[in-house]
Amino acid sequence: MLAAVTLVACAADDSIDPSLASRSETATAELDSTNDAPEAVSTPTSTSTTVPAAPNTTSTSTSTSTTEAPGSTILLTDNLGGETIGDPYYPDVGNTGYDVRSYDLDLKVDIEGRDTLSGVATIDVVTTAALDRLSFDLVELEVKSVTIDGTEVPHTQTDDKLRLAPPTTLEPNAEITIAVTYAGTPISMPSQTRIGPIGWFDIGSTASVAIGEPTGARTWFPVNDHPSDKATYTVTIDVAEPLIGVSNGELVRSEAANGRRTTRWEMRQPMASYLATVSIGDYALISSDPSATTGVAVEDAVAQRLATIFEGDFEQTDEMIDIFSELFGPYPFDEYGVLIVDAEFGFALETQGRSLYSESLIDGDGSIERIVAHELAHQWFGNHVSPSTWQDIWLNEGFASYAEDLWLEFGRGRDVVQLQTRLLGRASDALSPAPRDPGPEGLFAPSVYRRGGITLHALRLEVGDAVFFDILQTWLLRFGGGVASTEDFISLSEERSGNNLRGFFDAWLSDGPLPALPS
Ligand code: TRP
Ligand code: ZN
Repeated sequence: MLAAVTLVACAADDSIDPSLASRSETATAELDSTNDAPEAVSTPTSTSTTVPAAPNTTSTSTSTSTTEAPGSTILLTDNLGGETIGDPYYPDVGNTGYDVRSYDLDLKVDIEGRDTLSGVATIDVVTTAALDRLSFDLVELEVKSVTIDGTEVPHTQTDDKLRLAPPTTLEPNAEITIAVTYAGTPISMPSQTRIGPIGWFDIGSTASVAIGEPTGARTWFPVNDHPSDKATYTVTIDVAEPLIGVSNGELVRSEAANGRRTTRWEMRQPMASYLATVSIGDYALISSDPSATTGVAVEDAVAQRLATIFEGDFEQTDEMIDIFSELFGPYPFDEYGVLIVDAEFGFALETQGRSLYSESLIDGDGSIERIVAHELAHQWFGNHVSPSTWQDIWLNEGFASYAEDLWLEFGRGRDVVQLQTRLLGRASDALSPAPRDPGPEGLFAPSVYRRGGITLHALRLEVGDAVFFDILQTWLLRFGGGVASTEDFISLSEERSGNNLRGFFDAWLSDGPLPALPS
């Protein structure tokens, strides 16, 4: 099919970012053509109603939260807990009134015909302010009831928020447990970037998958949908056999009864919501021996059809983990693996602890080596240290792109001058938008990957190998488990090198001409 052909071409070109281009050109058609129930997969056009147009369309039962002031300025009179996290690219997502510690998602999913999902999300939070109301991001799914610490509370829903009204003001620093019972047919929605739709994908009666990055998590659970509020996750999925539900982290339970199978997955390290996934399909769960050097166990979930060939594409995983651990510091999670979904939408995504691959990338011939290194490197850069806001996306994509070259240099003994020539050529073809502020449409633009990537190579030449790897390792030590910004990276680079690097980063991360590489 078209996507597969384009992707083979991309793999031959030895590159990662064109896979995104091919996806955006064909994703919608691919998804529609592989779908038994076309109405259940929403194209950007058909889901436009889920993008908030008029605020507060269904809110009825909560107390008045706004008043008309003279001159018709709307004043917020209740403490809403800041119903945005203030992301420059996604001003509608998140809430600053609380900090989620853990999500426990108990999901029952049926994918015969139109997908249906019913769930209970048990969310442990700590309030960061006095709260009269609080909200979660949630799209399309209908909330039946909500409790706070076991007591039912009133709730309302808008197109993209679930709002709760606790009976009395919540104190700051209160630990509370919110349980949301909800159900519906989850949808995909436009992402406004070149990667096409995100959210829930209904791939006929054989598979379904949830794609988060950047703001798709809210299509399958109530969430503070921003990387700055990381949490641990337990996901339990109940599906009809022989299907099986797969999520992030370690499989801690698998039980079959009455023709259904329940699996429970645990991600014990903090995870950004965009890195959470769930997929239902006919999966083989395949574990391999831990690497002798680093001891990281690899547990793959592979669509049965590909279980005999996929290994050819991932033969280097152990060695990549070893090399990256040496260069960057220890692998940050309990185990690694891949989740190979039997769907032709032609991309890979660095879902935490188990990177997600579309079947169309898999042919067992090893030609996706760069992509394999890229998604693995994201576990350090993007997943362990996540972007403070989406404007900082080059901290994910520039770093993972440069890590492809580091793997080839340190793992494969490739000539660094040849690698540099390729980096330079490709960055020269993708000067703008500026990696430092690519705008919401440019989030996954080639310049973010390539110009972002060569910026790191330039830094390495500027400060020398010892200082460069010290910067990367300190970055992971200092910000691991949390988030960091471009400003943090510049300050850290200056701190570790003793150089003034502001002008350097301003030039490399801009959309102007590429500076000359330091010699
Ligand atoms: N982070 C992905 C990468 O490795 C790109 C990406 C962003 C993506 N959002 C996505 C891929 C959604 C698939 C689906 O470069
Ligand atoms: Zn990437």
